[in-house]
Amino acid sequence: MKVSVCRKEHFNAAHRLFNSGWPDEENEKVFGKCNNPNFHGHNYELIVKLSGEQDPETGYVYDLKKLSDLINKFILEKFDHKNLNLDVEEFKKINPTAENIAVVTYNILRKEIDNKYDLKIILYETERNYVEYPA
Ligand code: NI
Repeated sequence: MKVSVCRKEHFNAAHRLFNSGWPDEENEKVFGKCNNPNFHGHNYELIVKLSGEQDPETGYVYDLKKLSDLINKFILEKFDHKNLNLDVEEFKKINPTAENIAVVTYNILRKEIDNKYDLKIILYETERNYVEYPA
């Protein structure tokens, strides 16, 4: 019987969405306000969900303090109060969309969490817009 446990964290970061191969008008049309050349910020809510079997001796699936520490060390240290385009290596070549932030987060945390757990990333870019990876 699998049970899921989730840890919710928060970070602030700036970004700009654009495709350097496109003319300004096209970037403006596709990315709207997120194309602002001087960047803009979002208050991201990050939910990391782990699913697995409960440990029969503790009743835990995963120690949430340990999960919180992993997220802080590997994700928040990297993203919080940063300009994602300029400060974060992973976004030098890909757009820091919510989708890509979720995929990058997943790939980093996947290496730190035993494969016996299923991992899912849920990332809110605004109160109403959020993405999930894997879908
Ligand atoms: Ni934006």
